[in-house]
Amino acid sequence: MSYPALETDRLSIRPYRDEDAPRVLDIMSRIEVVRWLSTPPFRLMADLEEALAWVARRHDLEAQEPATIFRAIVPHETGVVAGSVLVAPLVRLDGGHVGEFELGWHLHPDSEGHGWATEAGAALARQAFDAGHDELVIDMYPDNHGSARVARRLGARDQGVGPDPWYGDEGLVFRLSADDLA
Ligand SMILES: CC(C)(COP(=O)(O)OP(=O)(O)OC[C@H]1O[C@@H](n2cnc3c(N)ncnc32)[C@H](O)[C@@H]1OP(=O)(O)O)[C@@H](O)C(=O)NCCC(=O)NCCS
Repeated sequence: MSYPALETDRLSIRPYRDEDAPRVLDIMSRIEVVRWLSTPPFRLMADLEEALAWVARRHDLEAQEPATIFRAIVPHETGVVAGSVLVAPLVRLDGGHVGEFELGWHLHPDSEGHGWATEAGAALARQAFDAGHDELVIDMYPDNHGSARVARRLGARDQGVGPDPWYGDEGLVFRLSADDLA
């Protein structure tokens, strides 16, 4: 299945394009963003070539796993990519429980504080539920207070902090269904 781009009141939520590569590099070369998105050792993007490969990889991931949706958030007000919102498969480290999907987001620091991650998260989650997902997992480091506030604003159910079955160590997990969406 391929998911159409979305328009909300303030945002275009659309597939990444090659011309977004400089902005992708600006976002993914920042430790203050990347440290929340992966596990150590954190690898920062180094150059435009890597950014272009990152964009190509988003398209490959969608082609390989059609339930994956990886989108650029572009506010109408600026026309500049603010960050990303995604739905992607979650794979448990112990191989159990297949079929789980996460909802995620990240913004360039210059794009925080407008409610754009929340608006994009709600729109993409709605699209995923309409396409047949029953529930999405929102998984984060326990001290990621900004991301937890986004999850709460969406109406996601707080599952608390515990061993993280997907990324290891400890995670703060929320679960979101269509009925939860505020
Ligand atoms: C997590 C992250 C996306 C949150 O960014 P954010 O700007 O706080 O989230 P939103 O875009 O939804 O904006 C919400 C903020 O804008 C404010 N805001 C301003 N205008 C608003 C509006 N019209 N609607 C909603 N919120 C608005 C809200 O009050 C809120 O601030 P608060 O949390 O201090 O109350 C961002 O910090 C980030 O990219 N972090 C690094 C990557 C990351 O952690 N990703 C998640 C991994 S699990």
